[in-house]
Amino acid sequence: MDAALSTRVWLLVCFLGLIELANAGLYYYYKSRHDTCAREATPCYDYALTFVMDGSSDEYLGNNRSEILAHHQLAGRTEADAIQEGKMATAWLKTKYGIDFTSVEDDAYLDGTKAVTSDDGTLTFRAFIVDSATRNRFVSASKAHKVEFFNAPISKAGWVVMVNEAISAGGTFNRTLPRGAKIFYGDYVIPLCDRSGVKNKNNYYSCRNIFNQKTLKIHYETSTYCSSVDGVSVINCVVKETSWGVGAARGASFVEGNKYCGRSVLTFPASKP
Ligand SMILES: *[C@@H]1O[C@H](CO)[C@@H](O)[C@H](O)[C@H]1NC(C)=O
Ligand SMILES: *[C@@H]1O[C@H](CO)[C@@H](O)[C@H](O)[C@H]1NC(C)=O
Repeated sequence: MDAALSTRVWLLVCFLGLIELANAGLYYYYKSRHDTCAREATPCYDYALTFVMDGSSDEYLGNNRSEILAHHQLAGRTEADAIQEGKMATAWLKTKYGIDFTSVEDDAYLDGTKAVTSDDGTLTFRAFIVDSATRNRFVSASKAHKVEFFNAPISKAGWVVMVNEAISAGGTFNRTLPRGAKIFYGDYVIPLCDRSGVKNKNNYYSCRNIFNQKTLKIHYETSTYCSSVDGVSVINCVVKETSWGVGAARGASFVEGNKYCGRSVLTFPASKP
């Protein structure tokens, strides 16, 4: 081999070697992250979502009918569908707590101003929508070992029972509900594409995200009941997503004056063995 040729061969070998090193580096980088899911000490959830709230509001649980309807529209529901969903809520309240609001008029499911209080005054049922001024938002998500940043506003609405006086509840719950407790049933609706949509070369907004979904719709229902001590409440809900199954939402919220500071993590499935 002449000197020029051997130099060229040498450079080629170096070049290929560098590619190999880079590949090996990437391989170990990805492999190591995959591997954490296989380790018993660091299992990965199918999905883990973080929610943050830090805005001020004078009416956390809003009662505006048109805003409540807008939420249901976002969830893909007509008025009739929203009433039907509300009837699922009252049926659930009856089975789980022995609380019977199944005979409320249809409009009470859509209009938060049409609250219904039980004859003995112990319980009040109504529709609600969380005030968007609380800046409740979906920050990030992981799907197995992949992560993505979203920062998308969450529309949160549903139905609430407020416990005005302590009662001994029946149903499968079959325990005392303390005065001031609240029970929630509803859903989070999170449009993802208005934020993460990217215009491709055909001028078409594609909605690429780790979920391959334009909107997330996640059902929630209180696990036991919510109560707050000195403005601090524990968030503990059963959550459900059509294709992900049943999960858990856990966190805490702190009310400071009229500022609502909430932190919550949703995992699917609910827990790891
Ligand atoms: C309900 O909300 C809509 C839309 O945000 C608003 O235009 C309307 O004034 C509100 N109604 C009441 C009674 O506050
Ligand atoms: C409810 O709890 C009481 C004890 O507090 C028990 O006697 C009763 O059998 C329970 N009912 C149901 C339906 O589990």
